[in-house]
Amino acid sequence: MAETIEVFYYVDASPEAASRRAAQYFVDGIRAAAGARGKARIAISGGNTPKHTFELLADPSAQYREQIPWENLELYWVDERCVPPDHTDSNYRMTREALLDKVPLSDKQIFRIQGELDPEEAAAKYEFDIRQSFRLEGAELPCFDLVLLGMGPDGHTASLFPHTQGLQEIMRVAIANHVPQQKDSWRITLTWPVIDRARDIFFLIEGADKVVALKQVFRGPYDPETYPSQLIRPASHRITLLLDSAAAAALPPPGPNGQGKLEIAR
Ligand code: 6PG
Repeated sequence: MAETIEVFYYVDASPEAASRRAAQYFVDGIRAAAGARGKARIAISGGNTPKHTFELLADPSAQYREQIPWENLELYWVDERCVPPDHTDSNYRMTREALLDKVPLSDKQIFRIQGELDPEEAAAKYEFDIRQSFRLEGAELPCFDLVLLGMGPDGHTASLFPHTQGLQEIMRVAIANHVPQQKDSWRITLTWPVIDRARDIFFLIEGADKVVALKQVFRGPYDPETYPSQLIRPASHRITLLLDSAAAAALPPPGPNGQGKLEIAR
């Protein structure tokens, strides 16, 4: 019997306001996990959209940094491009410049995807690092406390792109995914079953170029080969969308408090 996923969406008038809501969402999620389990294991996406949120988290003059128990945090990535850590396309580099260079996180708390390695080797190394740090046994999969996702105009999330092999993988933690539509490149990505096990999953999506994909993913027919973000059907039965009004233009108008709700079948 199909189960229902509740999709709570928050629409802000500007990317700045949406980034601030995302920064507070991080703070609340990290504090909740650290409070409940003594540790907050979070996985972040790359691309452009999260950069300002990371800058806000690091900014001592903003109200977020002082609220975060940095000593209880473990930082992982949802995906990475197959480039060295100092390359302009590197998600690690973006995060280092926007956040890591400015906050008290030790190397032991940062689990970087080694995009400079051969793709299969990088995926195997990342899976090994996660299995070690989560102390996983056998085919056990990790359960992250908080996962930040983005979405491309084509409906991809993480590095799970339309019609790519990576969409079929359900056993592994991390894989190398060949993405012909992205300059015939390779990406390293967490698999969708791992993302779906997370306790809390939120998308941060900004910009008019995401309107069609957002509508298709959450209101269109189930076609995950074409819209891989539809594979995000969390075990928690809850997804949070943090949106700017440009991206949310095709969703039902939110309530007076800027919050809306959709229900999707699992
Ligand atoms: C990546 C991301 C990817 C991203 C979307 C949206 O490595 O590119 O993790 O999944 O979230 O492509 O990217 P933008 O935020 O740049 O639009």
